[in-house]
Amino acid sequence: SGYFTYDPGFMSTAACESKITYIDGDKGILLHRGYPIEQLAAKSDYLETCYLLLHGELPNPEQKKEFVDTISKHTMVNEQLKSFLNGFRRDAHPMAIMCGIVGALSAFYHDSLDNNNPKHREISAHRLIAKMPTIAAMAYKYSIGQPIMYPRNDLCYSENFLHMMFNTPAGEKRFSPALIRAMDRIFILHADHEQNASTSTVRLAGSTGANPFACIASGIAALWGPAHGGANEAVLTMLDEIGDASNIEKFIAKAKDKNDPFKLMGFGHRVYKNFDPRAQVMKQTCDEVLAELGVNDPKLDLAMKLEEYALNDPYFKERNLYPNVDFYSGIILKAIGIPTSMFTVIFAMSRTVGWISHWTEMLSSPYKISRPRQLYTGYEQRDYEPLDKR
Ligand code: CMC
Repeated sequence: SGYFTYDPGFMSTAACESKITYIDGDKGILLHRGYPIEQLAAKSDYLETCYLLLHGELPNPEQKKEFVDTISKHTMVNEQLKSFLNGFRRDAHPMAIMCGIVGALSAFYHDSLDNNNPKHREISAHRLIAKMPTIAAMAYKYSIGQPIMYPRNDLCYSENFLHMMFNTPAGEKRFSPALIRAMDRIFILHADHEQNASTSTVRLAGSTGANPFACIASGIAALWGPAHGGANEAVLTMLDEIGDASNIEKFIAKAKDKNDPFKLMGFGHRVYKNFDPRAQVMKQTCDEVLAELGVNDPKLDLAMKLEEYALNDPYFKERNLYPNVDFYSGIILKAIGIPTSMFTVIFAMSRTVGWISHWTEMLSSPYKISRPRQLYTGYEQRDYEPLDKR
């Protein structure tokens, strides 16, 4: 009953009020709690940005120390989760493992799942931010048949992740500050992005009163698709397929062909119609990381040529299609040594703080269950026919 607007894809619907992240798509502006992403990427660190997103303000030195200590105390996961992990095929996609294990965390914290209790909400946020890297690295180690590395609380968030990914009990090494910084910056650049598909999914799931681990698992599922977080993996697959600059023209033609489902991965955005500020910082980081590591990746040249080609093509110009955050991130991750199948997992890890901040914001003031309507286009009422009459 009543009237409602028809807005498929939510092109013009604001589903909530939020104080967390501001985007001006025409001007290419992205602010977290008022702070420009460029400044956070250059001057902040990931856990500080997490604090900012969750609490609304940058921490003072005491608050920062306490937050970092708290997160490092929550990095371990229950040993039972290892048994769960062992049930997966070794070649399972790590995003499949993430959906399963993060959802399963609900089963471990019965004592603190009262969504109306701010303390419970906070401890769930801490647990999720702290445990995501551990779970992600577990999924990777499992896929390559190496023993799982336990987290080290004496390392910073990003180095601890590199440690769990790349060290083995046979030999532990430390990582260069440049590598740690690059990892941290990638986490910052993915930390939040207002009401994107996965965040909206988390809010929608949260609006039913579901527990935070189940809500974040639903966000991970929504992020997985190639139109969203899966794009970073798809960019590398696409660059592999293009192979050589001489094939760029052919792939651009495919992307423009309306009868061909192929799209230029890492290009275009629902909100940014001029440039994606995250892509600019990412490109700069990419140059720095490759120089620092002395990596000469021909894929970077190919990506840059592809970008130049697309930016000069009327099809892409008319539609305001620019490289997005996913276009260059894969090249950096590859240089760090992260396998392609882990790219979207890293996006999910970084975005967990955004998801949980939105979930917390929603639950902190009055809200309604998210329940869209539809335009029904099916049959009118008709009578059931017995099987022998059909
Ligand atoms: N390659 C070729 N054509 C494209 C592309 C592309 N990457 N992106 C959009 N278009 C065309 C689209 O076909 C449409 O053309 P027309 O007006 O002739 O029908 C026009 O541009 C407008 O695009 P749209 O699909 O209506 O825009 P949208 O806001 O619904 O979709 C998008 C945005 C990001 C899903 C889309 O641009 C896309 O699929 N891009 C490739 C995947 C990708 O890189 N995703 C990552 C997004 S950023 C990070 C994240 O959210 O995870």
